[in-house]
Amino acid sequence: MTMMQNLKGQQNETHGGLAVSLPAWAYSNDELAEIEYERVILPSWQFVCHISQVSQPGDYATLDMKKDSILVIRARDGVLRAFMNVCRHRAAKLLDGTGSCKGRITCPYHGWSYDLGGELKAVPSQHTFPGIEKDKLGLMPVEMEILHGMVFIRVVSGGPSLRESFGAAADLLAPYRLEEMVPSGEPWIDTWNCNWKIAVDNNLENYHVPIGHPGYHRMLDSDLSGVINEHGVAHSVSVLKEKPSANWAERMYQKLAPQVLTELDPETRKTWLFYSMAPNIGIDIYPDSFDIFQILPKDGTTCVMRYPVFVRPGSGAVAGGNGRERKVLQYLNQRINRQVGHEDRELCERVQTGMTSHGYEPGPLSNYEHAVVDFHNRIRAACPIVAETQAPASGTVRRRNDALLGTERSAA
Ligand code: FES
Ligand SMILES: [Fe+2]
Repeated sequence: MTMMQNLKGQQNETHGGLAVSLPAWAYSNDELAEIEYERVILPSWQFVCHISQVSQPGDYATLDMKKDSILVIRARDGVLRAFMNVCRHRAAKLLDGTGSCKGRITCPYHGWSYDLGGELKAVPSQHTFPGIEKDKLGLMPVEMEILHGMVFIRVVSGGPSLRESFGAAADLLAPYRLEEMVPSGEPWIDTWNCNWKIAVDNNLENYHVPIGHPGYHRMLDSDLSGVINEHGVAHSVSVLKEKPSANWAERMYQKLAPQVLTELDPETRKTWLFYSMAPNIGIDIYPDSFDIFQILPKDGTTCVMRYPVFVRPGSGAVAGGNGRERKVLQYLNQRINRQVGHEDRELCERVQTGMTSHGYEPGPLSNYEHAVVDFHNRIRAACPIVAETQAPASGTVRRRNDALLGTERSAA
């Protein structure tokens, strides 16, 4: 039986057979957010950085999630590896942000130091640890995979590889030459006042674009439906309209993109791709740049939005000598998409407010929202407690969810 067949039976069906959203309580419950982090986020591929940020030995990047921090680092042998970003002595977090280590990773607490391949090399006052087995105290490795220059990790390994998850959808990325891009700065990190699944739901459908994003609607012909594969990787295509937008920044972008990015084929220059990967990653691909929406649970009613942006280099052979125009293009893109980000945030926080309204019951979902249905079914499979229409009593969510999964833990 395939995963999809497995999941189908769990879909809540009311409203004449149409799928409905998860129950309202599931969008504001702290205990459920903890379980989702463990059962949905940790076993999934999470974005850390672009390959250009870790090109030299010693270069590293980190990813901070709800309870875990992960680092990727390039060793002297040229191999990029991922580790839990935690010292094997007494758990201090080792590295922050991005940067470069000179030779060793040294813990800021008591100074244990690891080589760039993660092996423990030096322990201050080692004679006070009689019999210490340094070779068993290397950094804990984490699964890592690179796709089109994007470095992902998976804390709890197992399941399909990243390449397998994308399948044929990965091939559509090739013309955008994402490997050549560089970060436009550190990722923006922000807290949104909504449950993480509200932000994910929003990222998974274009049904809201004509009303929620008037700018996109003015400048793009958007496929409102998109397609999704069995691993939860979805994408949709938006093409710059021939008709100039009434807004100057949008109009300017429509005009410049096909002219400036001469290293790309003409179709690619005017086509935007919106990707999503279950459970919490959105990848927006433009001819001039790309960005990632990484939506991380915080608690029941807030999430962390990690938003790195990468741009096509502005000079040199790749740029074809028109660096200034492509800087303008990137400026316009960021102006347009910052506005879209504000709109999405406002819409998501509006949904959060409505979720707790007296008498609200989940409504039917459109065929345009099929990726939302897929996502909800993944949540239902990992957290069957969400089949409850009312919130379980406080303190019982984990136990009851474990019982439903048949994996009740003996440790209470
Ligand atoms: S916690 Fe890292 S050296 Fe002590
Ligand atoms: Fe949106």
